[in-house]
Amino acid sequence: MIFDILTIFPEFFASPLQEGVIRRALMEGKIKVGVHNIRAFAVDRHQMTDDRPFGGGEGMVMKPEPLAACLKALGNRPAASRVILLSPKGERFNQQAAQRLAEFEQLIFICGRYEGVDERFRDKYVDEELSIGDYVLTGGELAALVALDAISRLLPGVLGCEHSAPNDSFSCGLLKHKQYTRPRVFEGTAAPEVLLSGDHAAIARHRFVESVELTLERRPDLLHDVQFTPDERKILRKSGLLGRIETLVNSQRNDSRHEG
Ligand code: ADE
Repeated sequence: MIFDILTIFPEFFASPLQEGVIRRALMEGKIKVGVHNIRAFAVDRHQMTDDRPFGGGEGMVMKPEPLAACLKALGNRPAASRVILLSPKGERFNQQAAQRLAEFEQLIFICGRYEGVDERFRDKYVDEELSIGDYVLTGGELAALVALDAISRLLPGVLGCEHSAPNDSFSCGLLKHKQYTRPRVFEGTAAPEVLLSGDHAAIARHRFVESVELTLERRPDLLHDVQFTPDERKILRKSGLLGRIETLVNSQRNDSRHEG
């Protein structure tokens, strides 16, 4: 996967790309990251990349010409390439979006600043606009790093253990179960006995129930989209969770019907 990042703050990316899993993925050639300074493509002698908005108003708008020139300087692009603008106005970036984007060969992240980018650039060159959450950052750089990290770890061979990604929180629509390690007893509290039993089926059941309980407690909105298998429904019925989930999903359905 090739990531190309267009930014006016290229230094921003120096340290985060030199740590942990991402550093190893870069060294092993699993990902390539190009950081491109938009300012180098500014057309005037002051190297301006932003200007006052037509019609007045606060802040500054990113000029279209340096952005377009920087993008064109990347040269020929593979067919499976996507230009993504990071902005608080975009669609929400989540695990499903990370999985979808991990299929591309090249992702080009445009880091917006100020009050946004000139709409004509967006219209002509941007394939999609993404937001990492309902808050406003000082720019798209952190959002680009978040997306790069979440997408990279889904690529083959990037995580040390190939099996960790499918068990992530969100990948099956639920939050991940709780984790314990040594010591068996910490400050008087023992780790759940079943995890030390060696009974893998019982452990899987325990973790599944825990996942559902955590999701019910912290992110009930996620349960709306989860399809449980007949075996999972049996486990949920036994642990008394199925009724709670059905009541919740029905009330979410009624809420959205009333809103719609
Ligand atoms: N730029 C500023 N805020 C942002 C957000 N929430 N997501 C993506 N890019 C942004």
